Amino acid sequence: MAGLVLKGIGKSFGPVEVLRGIDLDVADGEFVVFVGPSGCGKSTLLRVIAGLEEVTSGSIRIDGQDVTTERAAERGLAMVFQSYALYPHMSVYRNIAFALENMRLPREEIDARVRRAATMLRLTEYLDRKPGALSGGQRQRVAIGRAVVRDPKIFLFDEPLSNLDAELRVATRKELAGLHAEIGGTMIYVTHDQVEAMTLANRIVVLNKGRIEQVGTPLDLYNRPANLFVAGFIGSPRMNFIRGQVGPEGRLVTPDGKVNLPLPPGSAATGEVTIGIRPEHVAPCSPAEADARIAVELVEQLGSESYLYGTLADGTALTLRSPLEDPARRGEEMPVRFDPARLHLFDAAGLAIRP
Ligand SMILES: Nc1ncnc2c1ncn2[C@@H]1O[C@H](COP(=O)(O)OP(=O)(O)OP(=O)(O)O)[C@@H](O)[C@H]1O
Ligand SMILES: [Mg+2]
Repeated sequence: MAGLVLKGIGKSFGPVEVLRGIDLDVADGEFVVFVGPSGCGKSTLLRVIAGLEEVTSGSIRIDGQDVTTERAAERGLAMVFQSYALYPHMSVYRNIAFALENMRLPREEIDARVRRAATMLRLTEYLDRKPGALSGGQRQRVAIGRAVVRDPKIFLFDEPLSNLDAELRVATRKELAGLHAEIGGTMIYVTHDQVEAMTLANRIVVLNKGRIEQVGTPLDLYNRPANLFVAGFIGSPRMNFIRGQVGPEGRLVTPDGKVNLPLPPGSAATGEVTIGIRPEHVAPCSPAEADARIAVELVEQLGSESYLYGTLADGTALTLRSPLEDPARRGEEMPVRFDPARLHLFDAAGLAIRP
């Protein structure tokens, strides 16, 4: 296993710049997840690391060695794609063994590696089957097994679970977490799924338009987003944003005065700000305690909790999560309170203002 260092990676397709100035250090054994909107360059960055695309600028080091100009096969990495890309005419066993046969490893060594991976991924009873006779989750485990037996320096995963239904996705996610715990490999993983990112990652890299917006542990990004983009991207439903300003009495107010909050103690905020508050940090309250009022437009009951979608007096959307089963009705006006310890403030440039 190995660490990875990216320095100033740029990638253009003709005139289109897809990656710009990417700097990233991945430690040996770390599980790093790339997230970001569709088209932001996640797959391209993974393919650049794999050696499937050449960089336009910058350098890549794996295990201290500069591999920038090395071909994919020389880098010793293994990539698992969304489409499993299994050989349909070969058994599961041969699909997993294939790369090792090409490497001309001794037969006993191949057999030992295939069986060890099959045990780890609960595939032993399917080794004689063809991929066509497997479920989606089993096929994806074969694709992962094929990567595992190669004992790669780094595992690269591009949305490996996105073709699976919800239940299989959860099961396979747990297996991946178990696999990482067991073999301790360096893993780089692209996903659209917030829960996968939050639960699998040691660190999450948030990409936007080919640049890194922030790198941090899942809780870092959730609790201390560096800017509006990360604040809005991490967390589901997304953080509420309210345009406001720091008023003369050092309170946070909206232009219509209908939202009126104490500024977090020690905050350096002045002038125009964006107030950020997550749905889970807004709660219904008595009229006397209210920081704001919302007109309830939609109530979603999820059983374990409910989401209320409403608007403030000036029309700004505000979502809140409630543990109650039937917290409000459409059309109701509801006083709400913001958890003062959970307020986020952003300046006019969208950067977080820290106390
Ligand atoms: N071979 C190529 N030639 C030209 N443009 C490309 C090529 N490959 C990717 N792009 C462009 O690069 C940008 C980034 O693509 P990429 O596939 O890396 O995005 P992504 O973040 O993986 O998106 P998604 O979440 O939809 O998979 C896109 O605008 C895409 O159209
Ligand atoms: Mg992609």
